[in-house]
Amino acid sequence: MQTFIKNLPKAELHLHIEGTFEPELLFEIAHRNNIPLKYPTVDALKEAYSFDCLQDFLDIYYQGADALLTEQDFYDLTYSYLTKCAEQNVRHTEIMFDPQTHTDRGVQFSTVIHGIYRAVEAAKENLNVSALLIMSYLRHLSEESAFRTLEHSIPYKHMITAVGLDSSEKGNPPSKFQRVFKASIEEGFIPVAHAGEEGGPDYIWEALDVLHIKRIDHGNNCLQDEKLVQEIIKRDIALTVCPLSNTALQVVKDLKDHSLKKMMNLGIQTTINSDDPAYFGGQVNQNYIDTQKALNLTKADIYQLAKNSFKYSFLPEPDKAIHIAELDAYYLANK
Ligand code: ADE
Ligand code: ZN
Repeated sequence: MQTFIKNLPKAELHLHIEGTFEPELLFEIAHRNNIPLKYPTVDALKEAYSFDCLQDFLDIYYQGADALLTEQDFYDLTYSYLTKCAEQNVRHTEIMFDPQTHTDRGVQFSTVIHGIYRAVEAAKENLNVSALLIMSYLRHLSEESAFRTLEHSIPYKHMITAVGLDSSEKGNPPSKFQRVFKASIEEGFIPVAHAGEEGGPDYIWEALDVLHIKRIDHGNNCLQDEKLVQEIIKRDIALTVCPLSNTALQVVKDLKDHSLKKMMNLGIQTTINSDDPAYFGGQVNQNYIDTQKALNLTKADIYQLAKNSFKYSFLPEPDKAIHIAELDAYYLANK
């Protein structure tokens, strides 16, 4: 089963580039930028990666991101993640980045986007991995700040496919960003949002009805509302589920309690993703492997999850078909 998962062609649809910042690279980049770190060693930093909730994690995650200053830093971070994609047979990835985390520290939007995009282009050429970008607004900041970010992004519109909404969920409902999402859609961006990770079903309803999102990031708490489940199925909206993130942030106590299989049985379209792999103890393949074990997923389930990862990506339809044909051939030969 492990070999089946490792060699399986797949896509990753929920990934924060700042969350791929491995401690070793973080130390290297902080050192070359002369940025002092709170932790004396890589091991001391790793020990701090124990979280009670989302906010606990975000506090450390934003500290780590402070080491990123130059275009080369963003390039190195992104290329390092894309190398891991190639090693895991991730053929396509949709990368979230948080511009405000950087622009609020005085780093130019252009520095961030050029570094990330240059790595995306290099990976397409050298690693046979495709990637597209999701510019995510930080929901703990104001809508006005999100509008400024949207404005910054306009000259780079051709490099960005979608907009997202992340950071501290509780107390920051999707409706807070109604106008900036409307404006983003008018600029041609596809809307997605984190919803129902710590927030309730009402936040997922808002993400659907107020922000008009095309994919739900996490969405775990949809199961508390039967009508919502039926609506998600009816609208054919996929959930980007992140099992190891959920246990790391205590959204789910134990992987055995994870509702992924229940979601699948109900007819909700789900995918498996790593969210912030440097912080949550596993890349996307580890998420597949651990979840398969915990929930007794069959090869048919794993195939369905990988198929969804292509089907619910934002790739053009002909590209999806090519990936799914490769996946089908793989499944037929290995089931
Ligand atoms: N930013 C990075 N990871 C996140 C998560 N799991 N939820 C909300 N915001 C995030
Ligand atoms: Zn996330």
